[in-house]
Amino acid sequence: MEMHMLLWKAVSLFTLLYSLGLPDENAPKPSTEQRCDFASLYMRCDGCNETFHADSNDFHSPNYPQKYPDEEYCSWRITVSLSHQVYLMFTYFSLQFENNTDSVYVYDGDKETGEVLGVFYGGHPPPKEGIYSSSNSLLVIFKSDKNSSYPGFKASYHAVNCSGTANPDFTYQTY
Ligand SMILES: *[C@@H]1O[C@H](CO)[C@@H](O)[C@H](O)[C@H]1NC(C)=O
Ligand SMILES: *[C@@H]1O[C@H](CO)[C@@H](O)[C@H](O)[C@H]1NC(C)=O
Ligand SMILES: *[C@@H]1O[C@H](CO)[C@@H](O)[C@H](O)[C@H]1NC(C)=O
Ligand SMILES: *[C@@H]1O[C@H](CO)[C@@H](O)[C@H](O)[C@H]1NC(C)=O
Repeated sequence: MEMHMLLWKAVSLFTLLYSLGLPDENAPKPSTEQRCDFASLYMRCDGCNETFHADSNDFHSPNYPQKYPDEEYCSWRITVSLSHQVYLMFTYFSLQFENNTDSVYVYDGDKETGEVLGVFYGGHPPPKEGIYSSSNSLLVIFKSDKNSSYPGFKASYHAVNCSGTANPDFTYQTY
């Protein structure tokens, strides 16, 4: 009898854990806001909409290296020391192949009104030699549509002095 109770408790605990923790394909997906709030109890808010002031940092699409969510919008606003430029390098890039689906936009300066340095997607990945801003800020935006999703991207940036050496002397692994 006691054994029976114990077993029953174990089963209900499992059911509870199961209902809390395991993904259910048919369950409605949490909205970005919910996912963000839940995540922020434990960690940073999913790596979306960040502002960087350090002279170097790394960032990645949400859930990387797992697939990014559908209909996501993320921005990374980078500002480095005055009189320097931002050198941005994508170290991994895997997005939907077709144009006008999931894309990464890179703007010169910190606003979407700035010059577009590139719009990248699976069929048109960012240049392996990296991207330079003209001033000390750069804005990266990622948008996904409601179709298929991919692992996304991983990127690094460094402050560089373009009036000094032509090429920064650090290396990146390439995708
Ligand atoms: C990022 O900001 C945009 C615009 O304010 C918002 O629509 C989007 O939901 C935000 N993304 C996340 C993951 O919070
Ligand atoms: C992708 O589509 C946009 C218009 O939505 C167009 O301006 C751009 O040239 C296209 N890119 C390529 C590489 O064809
Ligand atoms: C993506 O979704 C749109 C409508 O939401 C649909 O018209 C289109 O065929 C889909 N494309 C792919 C490649 O599944
Ligand atoms: C950038 O490099 C040039 C040439 O080496 C140097 O004269 C200048 O002071 C540097 N600027 C900064 C902000 O470090």
